[in-house]
Amino acid sequence: MGDVPTQTLDEIRSEIAKRGRRLTKDALDLLESAVGDEDLTALVEAILEQTGSVFITRDDVARSLKKPMATEISSETVPSARVFEAEAKGISSRIRVLDDPGKKATRGESLSDYVSLFKDRYKKLVGILGKRLGLGKLEGVAPGLQLQPGDTAMVAGLVSNKRIRKTGMWIDLEDPENKLSAFVSQRTAETYKLARQIPLDSVVAAKIRRVRVRLNIVDELFLPELGTGKSNRSRREVYAVLTSDLHVGSKLFLKDVFMRFVLWLNGKYGNADLQQLASKVKYVVIAGDLIDGVGIYPYQEQEIEEVRIEKQYEKAAALLEQIPDYIEIVILPGNHDATRQALPQPPILREYAQFLYDQDRYHMVGNPVNLALHRVNVHAFHGRSLDDCMSTMPGIRQNNNAEALRMLLRVRHIAPTFGLKTKIAPQRSDALIIQRPPDILQAGHIHINHHLYYNNRLVLNSGAWQGQTLYQRELGWEPTPGLAPLVDLSTLQLRILDFISS
Ligand SMILES: [Fe+2]
Repeated sequence: MGDVPTQTLDEIRSEIAKRGRRLTKDALDLLESAVGDEDLTALVEAILEQTGSVFITRDDVARSLKKPMATEISSETVPSARVFEAEAKGISSRIRVLDDPGKKATRGESLSDYVSLFKDRYKKLVGILGKRLGLGKLEGVAPGLQLQPGDTAMVAGLVSNKRIRKTGMWIDLEDPENKLSAFVSQRTAETYKLARQIPLDSVVAAKIRRVRVRLNIVDELFLPELGTGKSNRSRREVYAVLTSDLHVGSKLFLKDVFMRFVLWLNGKYGNADLQQLASKVKYVVIAGDLIDGVGIYPYQEQEIEEVRIEKQYEKAAALLEQIPDYIEIVILPGNHDATRQALPQPPILREYAQFLYDQDRYHMVGNPVNLALHRVNVHAFHGRSLDDCMSTMPGIRQNNNAEALRMLLRVRHIAPTFGLKTKIAPQRSDALIIQRPPDILQAGHIHINHHLYYNNRLVLNSGAWQGQTLYQRELGWEPTPGLAPLVDLSTLQLRILDFISS
């Protein structure tokens, strides 16, 4: 527990109670451990603004804290005499790439491939929905076309359009043959809220009711979701660091901070407790933007340190080389890396980063990728589509971006909306569907660390190792660099290690 005066906590509790809200025990514990640096009034306001429900949970408080919950590692360093014994050295690697669509990526042939892609998306996701609802094969929107007033039907389709009106919104659902419009009233508050959040081009099912000629009302919406399958855990305690966005080659890459992380992995940084954790790390997953690239974002020319892409990768490799050799390193590309931008992205091109291909412990994969680490299913992607989520989903901002990731998990697609910032390659089948329910969904790109748990699964945005760029300052984005998310694969418990404050 922290050393916050009881008075302060009582004040928070009573202020919240006065507004008709209650803090859960977990939420109070978190406040007690983390409130020291916070402005009390601002914190209470932020918490109340974050949640509309009576009970304020730990997640609600976590979202409102300016500083992410993190383990600071400065207080004690390891005495140099202590011998570091890496448990992970004796653990055999159990990494399997289950699906790597970027490696199979073909050149898009024509516009007709987009038609096939959407048909494939519809077919696969409607299949998942039918199973989830126990209805077998869903018939698209057809059951809703010939209804009489008073009749109801279950329909399913791709959300092709949403039109906001004063009292609700029209939602258009399409199957390969037909289209149907239905109205979601604000009076069905939960359904309306969900309808607002659902990304365009997702596939959903809807229970609709014909009220009168040409007026269907949506009574309930259903997403593909994760099913009831149990989530997986490793049988032994072994850890993975799920990180991203190094941006080597930028002047703002925090090399010293990253080196502390590397020293920690070597058992040479942090207290005895942290040394213990380091000894169990077997995997590091880097979810894109290993380098800064060139010509990617506004004002980059003022912030670039090394303009040659090959050199940027050389520098990155020189750093990664210092990670102990028994640790397996998975590297996905991001929008700053040297490969095709359209999704699914092929791995970073060998011609720019040959040395990363020369050693077996580097797993050069595409974006997205589906991995099994000791039975734990990790679905990792860079997260470019989060930009589109933030511009279209009400209530989603940079600092609560894991909520957008949760929605992507629920619609089982990492980049549903076509035609915004995220480029999608024309392919006959849709490789961006989340086919297997993952135990961990990991992204980066936003440079802001944020996580939550959904149905016992971890939903995580890693953060970054780059300081705030001029462009981010202009946009008012405040990155959280220098935090390393560490996951125990036997429990899915997450610890955020803070290398920047140390
Ligand atoms: Fe990035």
